[in-house]
Amino acid sequence: MAPNPFFNFCAIPCLYTKFLQPLITTILALTLTIHISLPTNMESRNSSFLYVLFFIFMLNIKISSVQGLGVNWGTRAIHPLSPNIVVKLLKDNGFNKVKLFEAEPWVLDALRNSGIQVMLGIPNDFLAPLASGVSVAENWVTKNVSAYVSRGVDIRYVAVGNEPFLKTYKNMFTNTTLPALDNIQAALIKAGLGRQVKVTVPLNADVYESASGVPSEGNFRSDIHDLMISIVKFLSDNGAPLTINIYPFLSLYADPHFPVDFAFFAGTNAPVVDGSVSYTNVFDANYDTLVWALEKNGFSSMPIIVGEIGWPTDGDINANIQYARKFNQGLLSRIIQGQGTPKRKTPPDVYVFGLIDEDAKSIDPGNFERHWGIFNYDGTVKYRLDFGSNRTLVPAKGVRYLERQWCVLAPGASETDPKLVDSINYACTFADCTSLGYGSSCNGLDARTNASYAFNKYFQAMNQQKGACNFNNLSVITKILPTTGKANCKFEIMIDVGKHEKARSPPKYSAAAGWLSPNFGCSMVVVLLLSLIIGWVA
Ligand SMILES: *[C@@H]1O[C@H](CO)[C@@H](O)[C@H](O)[C@H]1NC(C)=O
Ligand SMILES: *[C@@H]1O[C@H](CO)[C@@H](O)[C@H](O)[C@H]1NC(C)=O
Ligand SMILES: *[C@@H]1O[C@H](CO)[C@@H](O)[C@H](O)[C@H]1NC(C)=O
Ligand SMILES: *[C@@H]1O[C@H](CO)[C@@H](O)[C@H](O)[C@H]1NC(C)=O
Ligand SMILES: *[C@@H]1O[C@H](CO)[C@@H](O)[C@H](O)[C@H]1NC(C)=O
Repeated sequence: MAPNPFFNFCAIPCLYTKFLQPLITTILALTLTIHISLPTNMESRNSSFLYVLFFIFMLNIKISSVQGLGVNWGTRAIHPLSPNIVVKLLKDNGFNKVKLFEAEPWVLDALRNSGIQVMLGIPNDFLAPLASGVSVAENWVTKNVSAYVSRGVDIRYVAVGNEPFLKTYKNMFTNTTLPALDNIQAALIKAGLGRQVKVTVPLNADVYESASGVPSEGNFRSDIHDLMISIVKFLSDNGAPLTINIYPFLSLYADPHFPVDFAFFAGTNAPVVDGSVSYTNVFDANYDTLVWALEKNGFSSMPIIVGEIGWPTDGDINANIQYARKFNQGLLSRIIQGQGTPKRKTPPDVYVFGLIDEDAKSIDPGNFERHWGIFNYDGTVKYRLDFGSNRTLVPAKGVRYLERQWCVLAPGASETDPKLVDSINYACTFADCTSLGYGSSCNGLDARTNASYAFNKYFQAMNQQKGACNFNNLSVITKILPTTGKANCKFEIMIDVGKHEKARSPPKYSAAAGWLSPNFGCSMVVVLLLSLIIGWVA
């Protein structure tokens, strides 16, 4: 972002959010109260002043956040939303904790002075280099932690690796995770951040198991049992939490006989009975299996964070809006009520996965992988989530779109044209066609609409550039919104990241959201002072 000289007086990081904002809010509240209680003749004289004050007052009210609720912000999208828009989205929805998968400068810069706490991830590829020597870790911490902390990014955790002991990785990271963790911890201490920034390792729930299925039989997976004990001990010695990712959706995905209602929080006819405890949902059962495993190995008070949890909305028969809403609302209601599990009454901090759909993620795990967002690719709301106090999700503001046009199968083209299959395959190699698959929102379209959908996905992914709607002459651009006849299957228009004209690169992420940036608050100080002066003079 180009420095804006006008806002430079707000350079001291926390001055505005920590001091000025509450002060302004208080002054405004008092002034408003006085004005409202004034006799009508005086009030009418100053009514415009009153409206200005009220407007600023509303802007200064902070959205109350839900205690212990965070969200994962992944950026594997062909067109990631501008980070300034995303940070505003987080704030507007009261998310004051965010988990990032790696240190991306454009994302971290947008989080400066945002009041949002950050868990910063390190990809698995970095584990081996970080394990190789403390100097690599020191370099990583200097560049990716210290540099941002000093510029006002509130980094609270460094998450070393991402599910490194997943069975499918076949022990690729078992030798390097603990040494990398050790070196990052040493580097944080050396950087003077040992108290402020804690280390952790986000682990998949398959690091523990229960042979009989009841939580009280829980223990760490036998092939990594000793390693897990070493890691837990290391975290415990350093006052750091254990982070675990729990996915009831994946339990259902992996096992067609999994009882569907056990995946949600609404009770079940067939609970898992463990001694005197009846488990009615897989989250409680899974989490308590870990608590038992920790207790059995001498770590009964080890703090736990749920690093990822959520439900996708597309890409599988069980991935849909209804189920996602049911699961995430159930989860949210528990968090709002401060409800823990049978074994541990204090609820953990929870990071929902995820914030926005990511259409460039690998679909090795399944087509659903690109549809975990509680928001669509453009920051629009997928479904209603109730945060209590009548607060629901609000969409991203200031999003710009490309032109209202779509690429479709040409009216004159035949759906049996021999070139059609290749054309669709080409489109779907470079764009995200996961919604066309079995069990998905656009599955079962007729051949013509199916082809149009794929063509349009490609055309939008390519920023509607010239030549991007030319599938062997089988396609045309239309300005009339095509329909699919399916409620959740839509012809999208991509967001404008400034790539449709070649001359306009690199994309200017800050331009669109300039007035929504954290600096906006600073400009409000000026507006306030001016309006006070005007009000005084008038
Ligand atoms: C900081 O993190 C980024 C993203 O993971 C990585 O590309 C970069 O190499 C890291 N910097 C250092 C000095 O290790
Ligand atoms: C990990 O270390 C063990 C013992 O030193 C060795 O046998 C194994 O091959 C190593 N694994 C990897 C993936 O490097
Ligand atoms: C919540 O908001 C809706 C619409 O704004 C309103 O009709 C309803 O009465 C509100 N409920 C509560 C409990 O405030
Ligand atoms: C729709 O397109 C997809 C491409 O992903 C293809 O697999 C499928 O067979 C097509 N369906 C029809 C009815 O043409
Ligand atoms: C598309 O149509 C144009 C003009 O009719 C023709 O010149 C061109 O060869 C065609 N391209 C393909 C790939 O069929």
